[in-house]
Amino acid sequence: MEIKTEIKLGDSKNILKKLDDNSVDLIFTSPPYADQRKSTYGGIHPDKYVEWFLPISEELLRVLKPSGTFVLNIKEKVVKGERSTYVMELIIAMRKQGWFWTEEFIWHKKNAFPGKWPNRFRDSWERLLQFNKSKKFNMYQKEVMVPMGDWAKTRLKNLSETDKRRDESKVGSGFGKNISNWVDRDMAYPTNVLHLATECNNKNHSAAFPEALPEWFIKLFTKPEDIVLDPFMGSGTTNFVAQRMNRNSIGIEILPEYYQRVKDQLEPTKLLLLEPDDEYESIKLNRRHAVR
Ligand SMILES: C[S@@+](CC[C@H](N)C(=O)[O-])C[C@H]1O[C@@H](n2cnc3c(N)ncnc32)[C@H](O)[C@@H]1O
Repeated sequence: MEIKTEIKLGDSKNILKKLDDNSVDLIFTSPPYADQRKSTYGGIHPDKYVEWFLPISEELLRVLKPSGTFVLNIKEKVVKGERSTYVMELIIAMRKQGWFWTEEFIWHKKNAFPGKWPNRFRDSWERLLQFNKSKKFNMYQKEVMVPMGDWAKTRLKNLSETDKRRDESKVGSGFGKNISNWVDRDMAYPTNVLHLATECNNKNHSAAFPEALPEWFIKLFTKPEDIVLDPFMGSGTTNFVAQRMNRNSIGIEILPEYYQRVKDQLEPTKLLLLEPDDEYESIKLNRRHAVR
């Protein structure tokens, strides 16, 4: 069995046209944010962002399988004392393009650096927007379960009648909790807030995200041998993680120096041994030259 990692140099708008329709299981990416990091890889004016992104998202919609998911890591910045609205405009435009905006996850940056501004506090979170092509998509929820923790000991000890009934909540939210179902269980489903530190092993890119970020979504939305795509590859974090997790992947990067760096570090194929119990074992290393 072979796991393939293909990386391509060029503008996603053009390169994506070469990929087959309905061929990708998960698109996970962090695009250039509007007008940020101009010095390294250019910026797009916030007013032009939607116009710039839509031809790319049109291709992404075409290449994604109906059962697949697109996760977009993005955060609008502050311009002249006001938050930009281009992310909200993008969500609306993508819905018109045919995407379902299924969910918004929050990445809480546990170690946001300290600072003081006259009109706001330090920004310690980013959005991960989940888009789908159909309302029925693959989601392997058990793969991301978390330990119940201490909450269970205190909250589950004294259950009220409301807690024990379905479709009733103390706050009248209409969401039944039926908390008693969780007594004696060790694991629970997580929330849509991910608490992760920002630091990452790869120091060769000014905007690399931590490996734990793509890892969580790859676990949730794919199974081994599925295909993961990152159309704004940067230092290749998504592709390295996908390969380690035995997923095929494709990465696209416009800047030759980033592309070359990933190419030098990555094995384009990884061989797997098929175990009798369907577990796979890697027999090759992911990275030829570790960057840590
Ligand atoms: C925010 S960074 C991605 C960082 C990446 N997640 C990582 O962990 O290293 C965005 C990347 O997209 C690349 N890029 C910008 N415009 C592009 C385009 N039109 N097609 C392909 N890549 C592009 C930039 O050069 C940059 O490396």
